[in-house]
Amino acid sequence: MKKHFNVLVTRRLHRSALEELEKKCNIFLHTGKIPIPKKILINKIKNVDGLICHPYDTIDKEVIKKAKNLKVISTFSVGFDHIDIDFAKSQGVKIGYTPEVLTNATAELAIGLILDTLRRISEGDRIIRNKKWNQIFGAYDYTGTEVSGKTIGIIGMGRIGREVAKKANGLGMNVIYHNRKPISKRIEKMLRAKYVSENTLYKNSDIISLHVPYNKDTHHLMNSKIFKKMKKTSFLINTSRGKIVNEKQLVTALMKKEIQGAGMDVYESEPIQKNSPLLKLENVVLAPHVGSSTNETRQKMSDITARNLILALEGKKLLYSV
Ligand code: DGY
Repeated sequence: MKKHFNVLVTRRLHRSALEELEKKCNIFLHTGKIPIPKKILINKIKNVDGLICHPYDTIDKEVIKKAKNLKVISTFSVGFDHIDIDFAKSQGVKIGYTPEVLTNATAELAIGLILDTLRRISEGDRIIRNKKWNQIFGAYDYTGTEVSGKTIGIIGMGRIGREVAKKANGLGMNVIYHNRKPISKRIEKMLRAKYVSENTLYKNSDIISLHVPYNKDTHHLMNSKIFKKMKKTSFLINTSRGKIVNEKQLVTALMKKEIQGAGMDVYESEPIQKNSPLLKLENVVLAPHVGSSTNETRQKMSDITARNLILALEGKKLLYSV
């Protein structure tokens, strides 16, 4: 069968997804340096009908302008802040993404970071591995903070924020949230979640969990001004995007004990810089951007990414389009 479409894939996806693509497309699979260097990206994108990219590939105006035949960009992610969406759309390029399938996995990780940060699990693991566990437990040894009964403040009550609220309920937490606008009363009731102003959330939360997309309005949303408003005993959890938090000011807040700890999956620069001061702080739990990283979810993400691309190339409605 003659293959109709040329497609650039910036990194290997699951076999099933590649097989699906191969049925209809000539694939140029980038297997070199990650992220694909801009020069290679620009060179390859010139002649393709479709692009499959990842959240660390910058698909800006310069790249899109070079892509004379491009009909679709399908990203292997729910976030799409790495793509110049407005410009792509102005050029008639469709954008596919992978929401829903990673909601649970990401919410699970947020809860995991909450438990780990408050109960100091990773810190304890380091103590044992460094052969520093010298005494059996005493009244004050390795005490953490109990999660049950605490107030979680969720910023961004979209799919993932709601799933975190549901799981927080199960752990006996009180849920307050802030969103551009309140969610429906029916869902609020179901999630036992109370809408509050941003300031009230900062002042009253024991844990703040971020679930907003990254854009110019959320850039450095969490900064020294906000850390000063938060409880000294509070924790910050970030599984959304690194640049939503001013990392330098977070480090200062943690060192000055303006807040008690942080659990992070995302960073201003990824992979995290080897000399990041965060690495030296015991009151921080660090995960390597694994919010959606379960076998189950990543397989589904691959399949949806391929499907979105093929549907768009065939002029059909995407499963999920931005
Ligand atoms: C996404 O899909 O945007 C996630 O950050 C990737 O894990």
